[in-house]
Amino acid sequence: YAKELAKGQHWVITAGPTREPIDPVRYISNHSSGKMGYALASAASKLGANVTIISGPVTLPTPDGCQRVDVESALCMHEQALALAPQADVFIACAAVADYRIAQVADQKIKKTNDEMTINLVKNPDIVADVAKLASKPFTVGFAAETQDVATYAKDKLARKNLDMIAANDVSAEGQGFNSDNNALSVFTSTEQFDISLASKGQVAEQLVSLIVKQNKK
Ligand code: PMT
Repeated sequence: YAKELAKGQHWVITAGPTREPIDPVRYISNHSSGKMGYALASAASKLGANVTIISGPVTLPTPDGCQRVDVESALCMHEQALALAPQADVFIACAAVADYRIAQVADQKIKKTNDEMTINLVKNPDIVADVAKLASKPFTVGFAAETQDVATYAKDKLARKNLDMIAANDVSAEGQGFNSDNNALSVFTSTEQFDISLASKGQVAEQLVSLIVKQNKK
């Protein structure tokens, strides 16, 4: 049934971390491995969807049948997402996007002349929120990586970013979340909650993808 619904749809999925350059040899990033986003891409592709992954730097192979666009910074991921999302049926923001970037990226390698140094940061655009503002908005799914009050913060992001669904993971719990092979999710729409219990990211992805297919049909 899910296969019939997803077949031929275009899904765009962001995955992995972003890298925010400081100078030609340094950057700020985070611990996202891309495993969760790539597992979602694989699960959606197995249902017959045409999947494009917008991927930050990861070491994973591209899942069979998926297209992949490689980016490094949040600004580049934003540009690619807004180019691809208007033609998509489903957009999933699984990437761990840096909230801030370096205000002034140095042209040359910064020298260690001072004992202290300060780097000014400016806010990055919110990719999933901007996708949700599109006139031709796809069914838009965000993630929420939280270390406390998971449900409260997730529901706040669902409403504030105008998302159709949000999948919250508790990234303070051991053995799940960033870089782990397993995950557990609490999924919220504006009216419902679904819990996906701790399992491999592949199994969690299959459950989330089938939930998305069903909710999108409503
Ligand atoms: O990659 P893995 O190692 O497998 O780990 C998976 C994961 C923990 C990274 C993943 O499950 C996850 O939670 N991804 C979202 C991480 C995150 O950035 O969460 P957030 O609560 O800070 O952001 C909320 C949502 O807004 C996310 O959908 C995020 O992609 C999106 N966002 C955030 C900032 C920004 N500038 N643009 C965005 O689109």
